[in-house]
Amino acid sequence: MIALGAPLAIASSQGDYAVEPFGDVASLAVAVASLRDPFVIADERVWKRYADAFAPFASAPRYVLAATEAEKTLAGVERALLALQAAGGDKRTTVVAIGGGITQDVATLAAHLWYRGVPYVYVPTTLLAMADSCIGAKCAVNLGAFKNQLGTFASPQRVLLCERFADTLADDDVRSGYGEIVKLAIVESAAAFAAVRDDVTAGGFRGPALAAHVRMSLETKRRIIELDEHERDVRRILNYGHTFGHALEAVTNNAVPHGIAVAWGLDVANFVAWRRGLLARAVYDEVHAFVAERFAFRSAGAYDAASLISAMRRDKKASAGSVALILAHALGDVRVVPAPLDAQLRPADAAALRLVGLQGSEVPLNLTTTNAPHETSPHTASLAGNG
Ligand SMILES: NC(=O)c1ccc[n+]([C@@H]2O[C@H](COP(=O)([O-])OP(=O)(O)OC[C@H]3O[C@@H](n4cnc5c(N)ncnc54)[C@H](O)[C@@H]3O)[C@@H](O)[C@H]2O)c1
Repeated sequence: MIALGAPLAIASSQGDYAVEPFGDVASLAVAVASLRDPFVIADERVWKRYADAFAPFASAPRYVLAATEAEKTLAGVERALLALQAAGGDKRTTVVAIGGGITQDVATLAAHLWYRGVPYVYVPTTLLAMADSCIGAKCAVNLGAFKNQLGTFASPQRVLLCERFADTLADDDVRSGYGEIVKLAIVESAAAFAAVRDDVTAGGFRGPALAAHVRMSLETKRRIIELDEHERDVRRILNYGHTFGHALEAVTNNAVPHGIAVAWGLDVANFVAWRRGLLARAVYDEVHAFVAERFAFRSAGAYDAASLISAMRRDKKASAGSVALILAHALGDVRVVPAPLDAQLRPADAAALRLVGLQGSEVPLNLTTTNAPHETSPHTASLAGNG
């Protein structure tokens, strides 16, 4: 496997930090054991699976959680904080989050609130977290029926990364991580997308290029978050695939893993971009062929376009009747296209969603149509070139 390489320094207004690669879990565990006053918040599956490797810090106080969306709530954060309180934590505590995005979100918010903020160190154990969420300082928890509605920006002090954790992930969780990797590759360039597609085609999702893909993803994301840490401008392009993806997650009650929903969502976004005359048909076809082959999923029920559109209206990114749709104009050229929701999801676009065919069985991801492209939206606002 290609190594992750040198540490990756990230500039942040809250203090710079680095992603520090480790070749094996055992040496990472030694680094955790040397942290000052650690309080561990860990995914229970990871904690059990890696109990032997985590022996160097087994005596540290800890809170172990189930990685479910129900746990990613204020109540879940409170449970973690009560455990920290019971363990005698104070201002000197270092919170150590070990797990995927759910554990990261709960632990980050807990660390941010405890004594108005103590340092936290993050050990990402899912591919999605390694390649994407471990940098950027975002955290969010769910409120009522709404996902990720409460949150803040809080940078980690360090990110300790070992890609060997991916060895024990379920296949769908590896594919989910690749959904975000594909998103970042398209944001980066045609060459980056081709490299990921070709490597995966040759070696599968667990092939030898996985670490190189993690590195590429982190470097792309770093470039964007260092320009716009607080997502006021160009960082919004990292939500490419998410408006549709979040809607799919909502209507399937999170049965579709996040990154797989993002892969599906960026394919739908590309379809919409092509229909509007913003993206060349050949590019849509190129990405679609890969996504359709590698990111198909099963859904338990049948969902129609109306429920997806209604979920999109409820998305937290929709405000005052408009939602920022992020559309690729070419590989390496992804832009924010703000428009009134109704104008944006015109009947033809809604037809695209219907074509997705959420039939309750294998989802064909068949968006192909022979209809002519739409006119270009007059509301197009380009952020390309900033990234
Ligand atoms: N804060 C951010 O910037 C950000 C970004 C993207 C997504 N998210 C959030 O992250 C969540 C999804 O996170 P995720 O996909 O990283 O995973 P997750 O935390 O949902 O975990 C997925 C599954 O993998 C298991 N697992 C984790 N590591 C493992 C390992 N090494 N071996 C075996 N099993 C392991 C978990 O127990 C769980 O069953 C969503 O709630 C999403 O909203 C946050």
